Amino acid sequence: MAKITVNDFLKKKTEQKKITMITAYDYPFAMIADEAGIDALLVGDSLCMVVQGHENTLPVTMDEMIYHTKMVSRAARNAMVIGDMPFMSYQTGIEDAVRNAGRFLKEAGAAAIKLEGGSEVQGHIKTMTRADIPVMAHIGLTPQAVHRMGGYKVQGRSEDAAKRLLEEARAVEDAGAFALILEAIPLDLAKKITEEISIPTIGIGAGPHCDGQVLVLHDVLGLFERFVPKFVKRYANLKEDALTAIRTYKDEVEKGLFPGEEQSFK
Ligand code: KIV
Repeated sequence: MAKITVNDFLKKKTEQKKITMITAYDYPFAMIADEAGIDALLVGDSLCMVVQGHENTLPVTMDEMIYHTKMVSRAARNAMVIGDMPFMSYQTGIEDAVRNAGRFLKEAGAAAIKLEGGSEVQGHIKTMTRADIPVMAHIGLTPQAVHRMGGYKVQGRSEDAAKRLLEEARAVEDAGAFALILEAIPLDLAKKITEEISIPTIGIGAGPHCDGQVLVLHDVLGLFERFVPKFVKRYANLKEDALTAIRTYKDEVEKGLFPGEEQSFK
């Protein structure tokens, strides 16, 4: 099977086939998600919370994002790898933005980048697209704006806010984004945006009418417990499995049951 490209994203929207996306941050889990047939692996700045253990997504650096993206790219045979632009890698200006976005493709093997924002990043998206860097945009709840938004809250609830979000969606589409993430917005608004723009929408907490869905891997697998947003569905409880395995190992070492003969050399 050939690698998924931006053209496949558009084709799926046209053919009304759902796009599947999940975050990945390292080689083993990226390999599993790729084998499962997921369309795109997002090396999300959520790694700052679920892998690095920070309070929010702000501290992760560009070099750390590149490090994780390299691991994911090594594992992806079919899935498209998308690098997420971390806080302050693009807000400081278009030149910084293009240079940093280019690193994901040039150094880390990604095929596209994602950045948060609407009309305020239109110029960034235009310049990146002209530089042959495919861009996925991200509006609604944008976690890098946690301090401005006053927390992680559903966006676009009022008529005015919904109108503004539709305008933001059109702005990133006009700028040349190949897809758009809609995070934590009412499902009717996500439906309207999905119907009104030509590029695929990928929802996370945006209801079932988006052209595709994305979730954070650690939420899907039950590996992150600090908080679980309403939009998350947990498909496994790997934390419990890991705890049982490690407790059993500890117990067996303490009781002299491990290593046994099979694990020993004669
Ligand atoms: O960083 C991330 O993981 C994301 C997705 C959840 C959309 O931005």
